[in-house]
Amino acid sequence: MNTMDKPENHILVIFGASGDLAYRKLMPSVYNLYKQKLLPEKFQIFGAGRTTLTIEQFKDKIKDGINKFSNYKNDDDKVIDDFLQLLSYMYFDTDKKEDIVKLKNNLTEIYQKLQTENTIYYLSTPPSLYSVIPKLLASVGLNKSTETAWKKLVVEKPFGYDFNSAHALNKNLLNFFKEKQIYRIDHYLGKETVQNIFVTRFSNEIFEPLWNRNYIHRVEITAAESIGVEKRGAYYESSGALRDMVQNHLLQLTGVIAMEPPSSFDPDSIRDEIIKVFHALRPFNGEDDVAKNVIRGQYGEATINGEKIPGYRQEKSVDPNSRVETYVALKFYIDNFRWGGVPFYLRTGKRLPTRVSEVVIHFKPIPHFLFSHKNLKNACNQLIIRIQPDEGMKLKFDMKIPGQGFVTEQTEMDFNYSTLANQYIPEAYERLLYDCMLGDTTLYQRGDRVETAWKFVDPILNAWKNNDKIPLYSYPAGTWGPQNADDLIEGNGLTWRYPCNNISTDGRFCEL
Ligand code: BG6
Repeated sequence: MNTMDKPENHILVIFGASGDLAYRKLMPSVYNLYKQKLLPEKFQIFGAGRTTLTIEQFKDKIKDGINKFSNYKNDDDKVIDDFLQLLSYMYFDTDKKEDIVKLKNNLTEIYQKLQTENTIYYLSTPPSLYSVIPKLLASVGLNKSTETAWKKLVVEKPFGYDFNSAHALNKNLLNFFKEKQIYRIDHYLGKETVQNIFVTRFSNEIFEPLWNRNYIHRVEITAAESIGVEKRGAYYESSGALRDMVQNHLLQLTGVIAMEPPSSFDPDSIRDEIIKVFHALRPFNGEDDVAKNVIRGQYGEATINGEKIPGYRQEKSVDPNSRVETYVALKFYIDNFRWGGVPFYLRTGKRLPTRVSEVVIHFKPIPHFLFSHKNLKNACNQLIIRIQPDEGMKLKFDMKIPGQGFVTEQTEMDFNYSTLANQYIPEAYERLLYDCMLGDTTLYQRGDRVETAWKFVDPILNAWKNNDKIPLYSYPAGTWGPQNADDLIEGNGLTWRYPCNNISTDGRFCEL
């Protein structure tokens, strides 16, 4: 990001402005941009939501969100109040025909005031409205970019529910907006540490020669969360971990790790290379294949530090007999020259012992051992890319233990972002919103990419739907999920990397 660039004057329209995402992520991120003077000179935020709020109530809510979630928590009241002057709000109901006309009238006034009609529409609504709102915008002529004014549409996840619904949604959006106007967001690509994977791989000579099946034994990607589903039980019941995290975030990470070097760093070159990876994902072949290579789990109640933690089935708005997975671990292959035969392992879950997202590149063992190792017979090099928290990287390698003889021990060389003095790390949404303002789609998903990711995930969803004999395991909250997820890892005694221990000791995993 070139911090000197200022986006062109425009209006940011947020649909779903009274919702949780706007409160926790979007508005605090716009505030971060405001503080860094990265917003255009003429700029306005227009909130549209289904909650009746006065402008004062809206501002109060946004102020609270800024104080809690922005990078400038509890900032000077006066500065926040100045920022809040940029806000307006209207109650907006997609079922009421007159509301879109009112919205247009409101925008027209702002257009006159700002002397621009450039607009970003951000869909932060329930997914059922993703095809309704673009149609409404088109019905009053608010969708088309012209020579003098652009219109962009940002679509939040979940983008579809399976391949068919994602395909239908793409088709629908393309009736009203052109592909280059559509920004499909996956906030994982907005994370600084994820972008740094491009730089690690393509700006250093030492990694790329090793980055293939000749030197890499396996790749492991984990996104663990310690929180449960919180207030999102209703959403989660229709989603589950596979749709919520794997189809998007974890496959994106896979794409960035596995892609070929692009010929240049322009949006389409990057997106073309990532989609090639998605096309090469070996599809799961029927229910037996899924049962063997995909482990699903659901957290059960447990006691952590003396506190009783409810199981998923006891959460609000969750069916007490729910069979929705809150954990998933899978093994798959990428069928191309670079990765032929290298297993990829993905794992994600709620109510695991800690919040950690990381990629672990496990290198192959050396071909012949000359020295004895203090702890392990066969310690392989590992590159650990820590996405969050404690953002950074670690390279594990062998060194001689000082003293007599030649005994070796594995040690770590690490880099931590926290050691960079005065470096501001932007929030994922902040980076992505800013890119959209500048018209940079590199970190957004093209329609074909989302659909291809669903094509990979669909056979798992179908197998689970059609065969309830495929086990769903219960794991106590605060543990690393079903223990048999370790069986996925090929190789004698090999397991996932466990960055910390289980924090709950009661209960065991069992089949539900
Ligand atoms: C969201 C999922 O996309 O990502 C949530 O819907 C999940 O369930 C969140 O908690 C994780 O994001 P992060 O940035 O906290 O890792």
